Amino acid sequence: MNICIIGTGYVGLVTGTCLADFGLSITCVDQDEQKINLLNSGGVPIYEQNLEALIKKNVSAGRIIFTTNLEKAVKQSQVIFIAVGTPPNHDGSANLEQIEEVAQEIARYINEYKVIVNKSTVPVGTAHRIKEIINEYQTLSLQATEGSAVIPSSPNLNRRTGVSPVYPIPFDIVSNPEFLREGSAVYDFTHPDKIVIGTESDRALRIMQEIYRPLYLIDTPFVITNPETAELIKYACNAFLATKITFINEIANLCDKVGADVHQIAKAMGLDGRISPKFLHPGPGYGGSCFPKDTRALCSIAESFGYEFQSLKAVVSANKRQRELMVEKIKHLVGGLKGKRIGILGLAFKQNTDDIRESASIDIIKMLLKEGAKVKCFDPLAMDNAKKILPDLTYCQDEYETAHDSDALVIATEWNQFRNLDLLRIKKILKSPILLDLRNLYEPEKVKSLGFIYEGIGRN
Ligand SMILES: NC(=O)c1ccc[n+]([C@@H]2O[C@H](COP(=O)([O-])OP(=O)(O)OC[C@H]3O[C@@H](n4cnc5c(N)ncnc54)[C@H](O)[C@@H]3O)[C@@H](O)[C@H]2O)c1
Repeated sequence: MNICIIGTGYVGLVTGTCLADFGLSITCVDQDEQKINLLNSGGVPIYEQNLEALIKKNVSAGRIIFTTNLEKAVKQSQVIFIAVGTPPNHDGSANLEQIEEVAQEIARYINEYKVIVNKSTVPVGTAHRIKEIINEYQTLSLQATEGSAVIPSSPNLNRRTGVSPVYPIPFDIVSNPEFLREGSAVYDFTHPDKIVIGTESDRALRIMQEIYRPLYLIDTPFVITNPETAELIKYACNAFLATKITFINEIANLCDKVGADVHQIAKAMGLDGRISPKFLHPGPGYGGSCFPKDTRALCSIAESFGYEFQSLKAVVSANKRQRELMVEKIKHLVGGLKGKRIGILGLAFKQNTDDIRESASIDIIKMLLKEGAKVKCFDPLAMDNAKKILPDLTYCQDEYETAHDSDALVIATEWNQFRNLDLLRIKKILKSPILLDLRNLYEPEKVKSLGFIYEGIGRN
């Protein structure tokens, strides 16, 4: 089966590569020529565990190609996945410009029956909107072939025969949200908790089941529903996880005040089968390309349907405050930030990724700079991305250069390599022995016994 994936970012590239590895014939399309050139020369634009090797394997096998030629890719493919960005607008709602642009392009080039699958995270009603865009174009094209309307171009005209396709050309829309996590995206795609397929067409459903057959064979549960429900499932999942993180963060903040230990509380909560232990790790607030934008987008979706999503609005504002509280912690420990040099370990929004979108670390750094602090930093993977938006920080080679002569060292991302620092060496090279552990990687008593002024979150 020929499949094209429009949008070769985190989701598109991982989806395309993994589907190629399932034995399907994949064309990954992106409008970013640099990205496509890099992929065609053997490079990989993002870091994901095992992704590079999997791309190489499937390129060699001739199962995946990369191109900017959307027209050819659409015409050759029976199934078209959309995996473009849906960034937030200023008011928090999802910006659908990329989706609508792609829908227009598909409408122009569709030449025979296609299944159009939306993998991007989109507000309820977007599948319907994509259908509308394509139908509107087809109506105009039909009128044009009858001579009663003019459309700007007829890209579907077969140049060899001079014959236009017969309108309307059939197509089906599927909402198939993606749940992969950056940092373990390849594993998540190939071992998902669930596959959600939202469609009103039996024909499209059969094709989707065929695409995901390898996952069906390993007993992955399938949720088959309508597009609106599928679209809302994705937001509901992300909003719930963001709520869980925010809840434990607030419990941790309370622990700081009352002298309780948030790890013990999280452990006990997690032992309750109704709660589960996952996503109960306190930190500087959720970040990344999904939770912040998706929580705000869901508030906005609710609002557009006349409903105030009160609890989620509180989550969004508590998450913002969490970052501010982290800066307050640093400020309190170093005694005012003006002129102080703060060493930051970790820039990525979480470990095992180079993604810094909505990273708590980046936000905290911006606040520190605003208060007059100087920042030295280190991240194993995300420094190149950080340099693009914060070129004036002091980027260090490792953890120890970052600590050297700093007034405090702050662990902002939970990279494994930060879990076993040579603390005695760190203490020697820090200007003052202050360690702020925003990911609770260390045991407070142990670190304090080495002579550090140490603070974690909710367990001091
Ligand atoms: N990143 C994640 O962890 C994740 C997980 C699940 C779902 N999602 C959702 O998936 C969608 C994509 O996310 P992402 O992180 O992969 O985004 P991304 O920004 O990494 O990639 C999007 C890609 O689409 C390309 N693009 C935009 N318009 C195009 C067009 N008209 N034609 C061809 N290419 C075009 C861009 O150049 C870019 O390479 C978003 O809706 C996101 O919310 C993301």
